[in-house]
Amino acid sequence: MTLRQAHDARVDGLPGGGYAGPARHVAIIMDGNGRWAKKRLLPRAVGHKRGVDAVREVVRAARHMGLEALTLYAFSSENWKRPEDEISDLMGLLRAFIRSDIDEFAANDVRLKVIGDYKGLPADIVTLIEDALARTAHNTRTTLAIALNYGSQQEIARAAAAAAAKGDVTVAAIEAELDTADLPPLDLLIRTSGEVRLSNFLLWQAAYAEMWFTDVLWPDFTPGHLREALEHYATRERRYGGR
Ligand code: FPP
Repeated sequence: MTLRQAHDARVDGLPGGGYAGPARHVAIIMDGNGRWAKKRLLPRAVGHKRGVDAVREVVRAARHMGLEALTLYAFSSENWKRPEDEISDLMGLLRAFIRSDIDEFAANDVRLKVIGDYKGLPADIVTLIEDALARTAHNTRTTLAIALNYGSQQEIARAAAAAAAKGDVTVAAIEAELDTADLPPLDLLIRTSGEVRLSNFLLWQAAYAEMWFTDVLWPDFTPGHLREALEHYATRERRYGGR
């Protein structure tokens, strides 16, 4: 076997290179709620609340634009380090969001999915989530995956352990155990608010994703910004390591 053939076995699962075209799966690190509020001398909680309004509009836009999956980083496993009142505000917003928006998802063929260790959230939210997952499980138009109590390193460790327990620690076997295993490959990762880092989000899935960093603060992010990122994405040449 030549060196090239040995490597082909490894990259077999990757698509060929070429122009990206329409994205199937977009993920967003929704950053800047606090700064949005601070600029207006408002409490951080107001920034988060406006952040939820932006979430709602962007989910609608994702559906209209035909995205198969949208993954949003709503609460990281490191966010527990925030002050208790802020955690409680975020949990309250999550609770209200699921209650108020689940009917819209159900009516519009949106499947809700959660990645991360959501069972570590308050018990009533776990129940709300599980009801919402069950209600939308058969929807197929767009999957809205919300990352809750999510850490990518933890996800990879869990997946590797599960793969090892089955005696197969290959790339494909680990990938099949990730929380995102049933989603299309990640095409585009967006981060708002001018920070340029991944913050323990989708580290494995981002291996060949395109990245889009914008200075726009999350509450100001509109469907127009999503469209701009998607239009840019479509023109990107993806090589997956080839040339
Ligand atoms: C970053 O802003 C954002 C978060 C900590 C989480 C994002 C949460 C929401 C948009 C609201 C809840 C979401 C749902 C789906 C109900 P930051 O506080 O880190 O902003 P800063 O860096 O400007 O302080």
